[in-house]
Amino acid sequence: MLAIEQFTCLSDNFGVLIHDSETGRTASVDAPEADPIVAVLEAKGWTLTDIMTTHHHHDHTAGNLALKKRFGCHIVGPQAEADRIPGIDRTLAEGDVFDFGAYGFRVIGTPGHTAGHIVYHSPEATVLFAGDTLFSLGCGRLFERGPAEMWSALRKLKALPPDTQLYCGHEYTLSNARFALSVDPDNDALIARTAEVELLRQSGRPTLPVLLSGELATNPFLRPDDPAIRRTLGMESETDEAVFAEIRARKDRF
Ligand SMILES: [Fe+2]
Repeated sequence: MLAIEQFTCLSDNFGVLIHDSETGRTASVDAPEADPIVAVLEAKGWTLTDIMTTHHHHDHTAGNLALKKRFGCHIVGPQAEADRIPGIDRTLAEGDVFDFGAYGFRVIGTPGHTAGHIVYHSPEATVLFAGDTLFSLGCGRLFERGPAEMWSALRKLKALPPDTQLYCGHEYTLSNARFALSVDPDNDALIARTAEVELLRQSGRPTLPVLLSGELATNPFLRPDDPAIRRTLGMESETDEAVFAEIRARKDRF
């Protein structure tokens, strides 16, 4: 049985710990900062054995060395960013599998936010750790690669089983919802999700995890083929990639 604990780190990062009760292994998905991760480990009585890094940004790796020093944990992360990930022991690229107890995490390459970004998908646990590639109602900013690469990355995530639980690197859902409504104002599922998100945030609760099926119905960055969004943008006959690029550019200016 895979236990998953999600909590807040820094201002708006998520920390996520996964624990396999069979083997006793515990992994941190990224390591935004050591202290809150240690606090959750102590509260649960878990010992950190692994860190699964999605990309090199400081707010995902700042805790690596302190946690490695304390626990001697093993750090895996993207091959293409290995020189920028403190303490990395093993590099991973698309097609690799990170074995964690009974669960195999398939590595999917998602260049866009950073050039070497990877995400971790377990078909057995029906869970996706998407880092800063996919957010609820949003996607990562294109710092190191362009919209063509990000769109092909998101197409791979769109094709995962709809009952997959999505975990992300940041709590950005409320501001993402406001933008999403600007390009998809009549989407009833998006309107309902926005109301839910407002209530969750008002009571200080996280808006994640969320089912991928919900994102497929509401997240404009996964829906450039949607006729209503295309009508709003005046892009009825453009390619999905061009519509995606326009949505991303509008979000950058929003
Ligand atoms: Fe990032």
